[in-house]
Amino acid sequence: MESDIKLIDEAGKRLDGRKIDELREIKIEAGVLHRAEGSCYLEWGGNKVVAAVYGPREAIPKHTQDPLKAVVRARYNMAAFSVDDRKRPGPDRRSREISKVTSEALEKIVITDKFPRAAIDVNIEVLEAEAGTRCAGLTAAGVALADAGIPMKDIPVACAAGKIGSHDENGNKKGGYVVLDLGKKEDNFGDADLPIGISPRTGEIILLQMDGHLTLEEFDQALDLAIKGCKIISEIQKKALLDKYQIDLEVN
Ligand code: CDP
Repeated sequence: MESDIKLIDEAGKRLDGRKIDELREIKIEAGVLHRAEGSCYLEWGGNKVVAAVYGPREAIPKHTQDPLKAVVRARYNMAAFSVDDRKRPGPDRRSREISKVTSEALEKIVITDKFPRAAIDVNIEVLEAEAGTRCAGLTAAGVALADAGIPMKDIPVACAAGKIGSHDENGNKKGGYVVLDLGKKEDNFGDADLPIGISPRTGEIILLQMDGHLTLEEFDQALDLAIKGCKIISEIQKKALLDKYQIDLEVN
């Protein structure tokens, strides 16, 4: 992940003008689809993501059922037109991996033992991608699950931190900066990316992945920064839900 482009200047200002601990702009809307039990539309920087929740309903095929609890099946998909080079439609290794880690993260939060033999399907469609889509997907899924009224311990939220700029424009090694929420160029040419998902109330980590290299100290810094990012986004999630249900209450 070494780079010869300058991702951050000496004053700590990033390519898109952000400070090291600044998120890209985030907009969240709950309840955008009528057929789904719960849904969410989320914009995060250049990412555009829709999440739709169906269930709890009988898990089919039957051998996928758990007699003691519901299974949470997250399916992450990137639209063919979501990236500059057309993406081949259909599942690939990357989307299977993201679906798996997202399902596991959500299973830690959803109160699954209320719904034995059921499935809760969480569809995540990435319409436009610009780095950080797994965090955008998990964050949107949290709002869609809450909109569906699925019992959860908390509303899950995700955010990444990473490291950029450890090489100057001449390719010489130097310190580098731990920064919040990598943009596309930072993801491509940076040194490390650490996406995490948490339960914001308890602080429990429900997803943690890492790409690239960080020292232990940088890891701790990145984790702290990503948790701070999650807490800010958690408030935006709650506001999106309040906005939807306040309007519904006013109409009825
Ligand atoms: O999206 P996220 O950061 O969670 O996952 P990634 O595998 O680190 O991908 C980083 C970014 O690469 C994506 O958000 C897309 O913008 C881009 N990408 C792409 O252009 N084409 C692909 N087939 C996959 C990813």
